[in-house]
Amino acid sequence: MDRVDHFGRDLFVALDRAGGRPLRSQLEEQLRDGVRSGRLHAGTALPSTRALAAELGIARGVVVEAYGQLVAEGFLVARRGSATRVARVAAPEARVATPATRIPPARFDFRAESADRGAFPRRAWLAAARRAMAAAPDADLGYGTWAGAPALRGALAAYLGRARGVVADPEQVVVTAGITQAVALLAAVLRRRGARKVIVEEPGFDQHGTILERAGLSLVPIEVDDGGLRTDELPAAAAALVTPAHQMPTGAVLAPERRAALLDWAAANDALVFEDDYDGEYRYDREPVGALQGLGAGRVVYLGSTSKTLVPALRLGWMVLPGGLAAVLADERGWTDGGSPVLDQLTLAMFIERGELDRHLRRMRLRYRRRRDALIAALERHLPELDITGAAAGLHITLALPEGADAAAIVDRAAARGVAVLGCARSLLFVGYANIADAAIEPAVAALAEAVHAGH
Ligand SMILES: Cc1ncc(COP(=O)(O)O)c(C=O)c1O
Repeated sequence: MDRVDHFGRDLFVALDRAGGRPLRSQLEEQLRDGVRSGRLHAGTALPSTRALAAELGIARGVVVEAYGQLVAEGFLVARRGSATRVARVAAPEARVATPATRIPPARFDFRAESADRGAFPRRAWLAAARRAMAAAPDADLGYGTWAGAPALRGALAAYLGRARGVVADPEQVVVTAGITQAVALLAAVLRRRGARKVIVEEPGFDQHGTILERAGLSLVPIEVDDGGLRTDELPAAAAALVTPAHQMPTGAVLAPERRAALLDWAAANDALVFEDDYDGEYRYDREPVGALQGLGAGRVVYLGSTSKTLVPALRLGWMVLPGGLAAVLADERGWTDGGSPVLDQLTLAMFIERGELDRHLRRMRLRYRRRRDALIAALERHLPELDITGAAAGLHITLALPEGADAAAIVDRAAARGVAVLGCARSLLFVGYANIADAAIEPAVAALAEAVHAGH
């Protein structure tokens, strides 16, 4: 009946006592397969013969012989006084390929992707993690609530109200794995409710367009100009996904009259506005422009994350939703993956409550501002013919290439010179400065200028 009567848990060895095959051969074969398949990694210490024998309920001598055989065959390595370990054997052919990282290394990194990864406040984060762990009762270590840890929802509601003018009750906050997941969850809910179309900015953030399309929604691209999304002729749609604080990629700030017009459109069409506030904390030349959500909380779903304030690796984001939508989106999240890791949420809550996020942002605003100024000065020296836009806010600026210029070819030529930069349709290059060292700005811009000029 039950053929597996003992189970070597750490090694995933299961012996069949009913089949009559010697236990020693079975053990050898399973360990051999484990090493060959790569499941048991080189260097892994095996349990002592005594421990494994006890766990499997077999005589120790059987394990001693099996280990000895595999050492002789070269699958294991035994050293006197230390554990028997898995040997390095030729890599199996069918190993899963390592997924390509999104950020291959580049000599000069101008990609507008993340906050300064080198400036992540590791020590303060660890201190917050330690405090959060010490303070959390055992009851907090179970499955969290789908909407997110109450401590984090409370900390975020207070922070967003103070820093971004968001009108938020903790009950309206749903924690997500970044804005990426928030958009996917919103798309799923829209589809389930029968929605078909979503307005997106043109040019816009293609990644979010892809997420919406994958969910089965159609995109309605609406042009962006110096005042952000053009709101004069918005067609009917279920929602509009916008980046009001710092348009991605042009850097435009959504003009005040367009904010009002967008909210009027939403009310007239019974639609929602998805406000992607991905880098709203950074505004250099005057006071930050408050979130659109503060003007129209009943129609706006506010989206934020730690990707531009801390680092994308945290995969922590949030939505602030109107009315009963918070419960709907929490439900969608829960049925997707059961919610964000609770300990990480408690750490972020502690980090915010102890003022560490504000402290970090104060420091980083100064640093980014200095870097942005150096970048603009270098661009004025090397590429004076290109217009710079979007420099007042965020972590990237946008360069308007000459009419007819091939942004993709420039991106390729820049890559050949060690400069990673992203371009997009409409002859725009967007230059992120969060991950470039101050001292590298001058040579990086010189190399970028070469890439631009090489096509002339
Ligand atoms: C326009 C825009 N929205 C959102 C994000 C952040 O997404 P996430 O929070 O999933 O990291 C980015 C990051 O580059 C972005 O450029």
